[in-house]
Amino acid sequence: MRKKLIIGNWKMNLNMQEASLYLHKLMEVLKPRRDVEVVVAPTTLTLQSLSLQINRRIAKLAAQNCYWRDHGAYTGEVPAAHLRGIADYVLIGHSERRYIFIESDKDIRLKVQAAIRNRLQPILCIGETAQERALGETRDVLADQLTSGLANVTAEELDKVVIAYEPIWAIGTGDNAKPVDVKKATQMIRQHVAHLYGKKAAEEVRILYGGSITVDNAADYLAISGLDGLLVGAASLDIHQFTEIIEKAHKG
Ligand code: 13P
Repeated sequence: MRKKLIIGNWKMNLNMQEASLYLHKLMEVLKPRRDVEVVVAPTTLTLQSLSLQINRRIAKLAAQNCYWRDHGAYTGEVPAAHLRGIADYVLIGHSERRYIFIESDKDIRLKVQAAIRNRLQPILCIGETAQERALGETRDVLADQLTSGLANVTAEELDKVVIAYEPIWAIGTGDNAKPVDVKKATQMIRQHVAHLYGKKAAEEVRILYGGSITVDNAADYLAISGLDGLLVGAASLDIHQFTEIIEKAHKG
């Protein structure tokens, strides 16, 4: 039985003071749980200071992005090499990065590799647009994004990778995907991982769902067999909602 993984993606919210206060409260209310792993993804600027404050037995930290080269003349970028030892995970290829910041499949592939090289666990985000979904292309889109994102990952390295299914049309829209469709997408992802790495690797890889998760719908996803947890956006900014979702994962 894989541990449930609940990640709060704070996106570009919570400044240093707000983030520190949130984490302080989270450390107070959460207990270390053997069956649930909790991760928060704050802004890059706050990561280092939060890494000194966090109790890693209770929760871990994820960066929201990284650059794939380890150093050099790349103004404004933060390399995975500098996040090493500060964050435990790093989100890669989030749809807001793919579509707002025009990250390419090649960027994403190189970032996954840089994360692993620097001992960060990549959370590879994949998902189809509303148009692709309407055209019945979900399976192909997921397969292409997996093939490309994992192209530099060896079979031994795959156990470091988490895959997050985040359909673009469900992110920040309140239009959450139906659990039955998330279940289908989870199966498609495992089938494609099996095609790339074999059955055992496909059974072991952790898969999350993200997109308009709330306290009210979280349990429906946590009940899906084969789904390992949630990537929560807006609801994770409210500590009460986030801890309630974590509690459901514990019970679920
Ligand atoms: P929302 O939960 O706000 O839809 O965001 C989902 C997301 O993008 C998590 O990475």
